[in-house]
Amino acid sequence: TDLSKIRNFSIIAHIDHGKSTLADRLIQRTGGLTDREMSSQVLDNMDIEKERGITIKAQTVRLNYKAKDGETYTLNLMDTPGHVDFAYEVSRSLAACEGALLVVDAAQGVEAQTLANVYQSIEHDHEIVPVINKIDLPAAEPEKVKAEIEEVIGLDASEAVLASAKSGIGIDEVLEAVVRKIPHPKGDRAAPLKAMLVDSWYDPYLGVVILVRVIDGVLKKGQQIKFMQADTTHLIDRVGCFRPKIEQLSELGPGEIGFITAQIKDVAQARVGDTLTDAKRPTAQALPGFKEVQPVVFCGLFPVDANDFEKLRESISKLRLNDASFSFEMETSAALGFGFRCGFLGLLHLEIIQERLTREYDLDLITTAPSVVYNIKLSHGGGTIDLHNPADMPDPNKIEQIDEPWIEAVIYVPDEYLGPILKLCQDRRGIQKNLTYVGGRAQLTYELPLNEVVFDFYDRLKSISRGYASFDYHQIGHRAGDLVKMNILVNNEPVDALSMIVHRSAAEARGRHMCERLKDLIPRHLFKIPIQAAIGGKVIARETIAALRKDVTAKCYGGDISRKKKLLDKQKEGKKRMREYGSVQIPQEAFIAALRMG
Ligand code: GTP
Repeated sequence: TDLSKIRNFSIIAHIDHGKSTLADRLIQRTGGLTDREMSSQVLDNMDIEKERGITIKAQTVRLNYKAKDGETYTLNLMDTPGHVDFAYEVSRSLAACEGALLVVDAAQGVEAQTLANVYQSIEHDHEIVPVINKIDLPAAEPEKVKAEIEEVIGLDASEAVLASAKSGIGIDEVLEAVVRKIPHPKGDRAAPLKAMLVDSWYDPYLGVVILVRVIDGVLKKGQQIKFMQADTTHLIDRVGCFRPKIEQLSELGPGEIGFITAQIKDVAQARVGDTLTDAKRPTAQALPGFKEVQPVVFCGLFPVDANDFEKLRESISKLRLNDASFSFEMETSAALGFGFRCGFLGLLHLEIIQERLTREYDLDLITTAPSVVYNIKLSHGGGTIDLHNPADMPDPNKIEQIDEPWIEAVIYVPDEYLGPILKLCQDRRGIQKNLTYVGGRAQLTYELPLNEVVFDFYDRLKSISRGYASFDYHQIGHRAGDLVKMNILVNNEPVDALSMIVHRSAAEARGRHMCERLKDLIPRHLFKIPIQAAIGGKVIARETIAALRKDVTAKCYGGDISRKKKLLDKQKEGKKRMREYGSVQIPQEAFIAALRMG
């Protein structure tokens, strides 16, 4: 293919500004799909993505477009995930392109996510074409948004395309702008093969499908290729592209984006960012920017019904086939039995996996409190350990220092909500770095401990600002902190599933809250039950569940027969869900409810 006739671009946008709708329109306009096939959004093809309206996996599609200059161009449109948890995948997708469409909602204007993605795009030397979408809305203010793009991002927006992806306005103008403004790729067909692994996923029919961008050389069916980071070789058995339906090709040349399959069974072998080269005639240097993504948020997943453990193992293994970025290993808890300790890229990632297990695999699960990874320096030269689970915390006497991960967060919020948001950040031990105003909105930069964000920061932010605040973050390394392990004791015995690592200053409040919650959730027994929160041997909060008087039990068994039967059924159900804790029975719901709090 003639390099000058190729355009590789992605669409960057804040959630809900219309990225998927625009992508679908471009596909429709260039003839990739019939109207009937268009009836459902094409690029967001997972159920959960559809329901939450967010893009999780990057997808790409090849379009043929006959431009006004009479030439036919090959356009590769790359869809990128829209959430901070998947920032690395976004960065690789951007690295595979020469330009980007910046979609901004004409009624909402520039948001935090837009900014984060635009800066990345600029870092990749992209040509950025602003598209002001949703101009059909009565609240649309395209001129104001243009000014905002210029002021906030520093991009020339005078030639921004005005569009409505929903009503099909400005679609040709978008395509013309892609052809005229975005530079064509460069590459050397004669050089040794060098291609970037942009994405990989598991397909039940094709096995692992690998999305690639060829930089130099040619990829062909039957070729032996080498993955330079993984240091493995594979035989290519298919080469093709998505239109968005699969089309097999004889080869992929320089500048092209497409897919290959090579009888790979496990996505973990095809890591995003790896460099593919010819096994017999390798390139001298791998592509820069490879990064092994590491899970940052960990929690335990346990089946409510112990009999579901094997089913949980199978389901988790299946999900992992398609997502190498989450990790799991078996874990046992005295309170919750057998389960798995799982690692995720962030809270959204956690929620997605949890939801898929619940919904697609029909599992009833308990999730323990999410935790980040702490670096613990042991005293007397005992080395350092990475702590993923509060239950494994070493004896405090043997700890010299605990380091916790920090993030830099950018929050974009309308003026009127600024006060409470500053307070929220302050309460979460945040350090304010910057505060600027842009057209009635504040842009706030804070450094925050990740530990304070994984609890319920995002939800609080959204509720305080009635949904208007947007939030984006990246990690900035570990810092020492005054962190302690807080145990929850029921009837003087620690309940492992409820222990957590907290900052000393927050321990008492959180401990008290937890004890109060449990007091209401654990049923009375024939004896008094103390519930305590403790750091080491020191109790910092305490509640007591009063003993049950004998005549109360007797009363329960009066009444008519159907009521009695109902009660018995309920009890049977209850049996399954009770955890014997020492001599105390704790209903499963108590764990769930106790863990749900912020
Ligand atoms: P993510 O996939 O989460 O990043 O969202 P997105 O940017 O892909 O947004 P999507 O295309 O799903 O659109 C979000 C909502 O805006 C949907 O309800 C669309 O129907 C609506 N929408 C998209 N384009 C337009 C438009 O031009 N006008 C109007 N009125 N609504 C639009």
